[in-house]
Amino acid sequence: MKTPFRKEIAGMSGYVPGEQPKERGVVKLNTNENPFPPSPRIKKLLDGFDPTLLRLYPDPECSGLRRVIAAKFAVREANVIVGNGSDDILNIITRCCADKNMPVAFFEPSYSLYPVLARMQGARCIKVPLDGNFSIPRKIPDAALSAPVFMITRPNAPTGNSFPKSRVEEICRKSKGIVFADEAYADFADDNCLDLLGKFNNLIVCRTLSKSYSLAGIRLGFAIASEGIIEQMMKVKDSYNVCRLTQEIAKIAMLDDRHFRKNVGTIRENRENLSAELKKLGFEVVDSQANFVFASPPEDGPSAHEIYLKLKARRVFVRYFPGERTGRHLRITVGTRDQITRLIHLLREFESE
Ligand SMILES: Cc1ncc(COP(=O)(O)O)c(C=O)c1O
Repeated sequence: MKTPFRKEIAGMSGYVPGEQPKERGVVKLNTNENPFPPSPRIKKLLDGFDPTLLRLYPDPECSGLRRVIAAKFAVREANVIVGNGSDDILNIITRCCADKNMPVAFFEPSYSLYPVLARMQGARCIKVPLDGNFSIPRKIPDAALSAPVFMITRPNAPTGNSFPKSRVEEICRKSKGIVFADEAYADFADDNCLDLLGKFNNLIVCRTLSKSYSLAGIRLGFAIASEGIIEQMMKVKDSYNVCRLTQEIAKIAMLDDRHFRKNVGTIRENRENLSAELKKLGFEVVDSQANFVFASPPEDGPSAHEIYLKLKARRVFVRYFPGERTGRHLRITVGTRDQITRLIHLLREFESE
């Protein structure tokens, strides 16, 4: 029988998320979650939550939460859309702006979900290779600047470095389409692209609560853009794309600024500690602005892939991306000091084996 699936779907591989090991007690540094607990106010909220409310669908417009986000970023509710994680926001924008005649542009390496979403739409990918230091090349091809949507991951994943904001500004100025700044890791960085929103109405800035708010489990992402862009995106989202509990938890968490700042500050400190320890072992570490580091081991020892496997056998999970540009590196999430100590201890042990 002829396959009932569209050829794009039947012919593609799905996105492969990082491993979520079932056993407890592992050191999990493979999916850029936050090792610290979220705001303690959430416990109080959950203790007082009336489960009979779960009979009802959640607010499809997510108005309360969008108002909290709007107030925090000094924009209007009409400038904000929320989603089931920022992956949902990425899915929405790709469905809005990509099809077989409308390609998607992005840098390479960057977030490996972009080509999967593009392929689902039957859209061509315009991949712009980053240069040797994983920075934006001097000349950005016209084809990428002509694409209906250009995804920029800043800080970049899986490399962790940030790009000069002037280059994002240049892309916004020259691009004929929408520029999607995926700022999943921006809370850990020295700067972000929010102030460019006032200058460019083709810019979308996307954030998540998965990393800096320690809330990967509730699935909440949001984007800020011009009213015109948000209006189109709202048509495409699922009616009830953010669950009732998630909306409540996100509101509470985003209002607890003190907890947020402390959490992000600790991750930034630990990031410097992890980078320094890796460098002492001879690793080359890309300057990170995110909650992970991208590091390549010394050439005279075991390869990145061998180290990944050896660590896994000792129940320490890091992420390995095969491929010419990424395969010499490990992507290691910034953990607690104890987790970093355990990792470094094992790496030292491997060195002397
Ligand atoms: C660059 C980037 N964007 C978006 C996401 C998705 O985040 P979430 O769907 O948890 O909000 C991730 C997740 O790791 C990411 O690395």
